Amino acid sequence: MFTTFSNHTELEQALLACDRCPLRRDAIGPTSCNGTVEAPLAVVGEGPGGVEDEYGVPLVGPSGQLLDKALGSVGVTRDKIYTTNIIKCRPKGNRTPTVEEGRVCALNWLDEELGFVNPKVIVALGSVALKYLMGPDARITKDRGRWFDTKYGIPAIATYHPAYLLRLTGHDQVKAKWEVFYDLKAAVEKTR
Ligand code: URA
Repeated sequence: MFTTFSNHTELEQALLACDRCPLRRDAIGPTSCNGTVEAPLAVVGEGPGGVEDEYGVPLVGPSGQLLDKALGSVGVTRDKIYTTNIIKCRPKGNRTPTVEEGRVCALNWLDEELGFVNPKVIVALGSVALKYLMGPDARITKDRGRWFDTKYGIPAIATYHPAYLLRLTGHDQVKAKWEVFYDLKAAVEKTR
């Protein structure tokens, strides 16, 4: 894949200085990635929330903590995988980024990141990541748990975003957590 940078460290430095779009104005700063570039598995989230904006690291707030538990249930720790987001800057008021905002940011950054990491498998967390990776007509309710091919030639599977799990209660939450467990288990098995 075409890449603008000679290595991931160079990419990360440029990313942290990015002010290419209006989202940068309302964020403390862009968030980078987490984990290892040697990862067989890349988890792609939506975009930073308040905690991530403050620390500059993806998925370290409440959603990230639930993700850690879900990954732990399939024997994976965050240091062994690569975690990143579609959107690098927190939208004002923590609103959901639009498909176009996701597309512009991911074309600039995610594509380049995944070029360096070249994971065996990608997990899309939630709708924003799914729509970028699978296409704008994708729906998390319909497409979660299904394998699809990405433009990188890397297979991907979508699962529910942890923020969605946190909003559910009772049986609905238990059921959705099981679904996430099975999706992550399938993803980890496919890396072997
Ligand atoms: N949600 C995401 O998708 N990514 C983060 O970094 C935080 C919350």
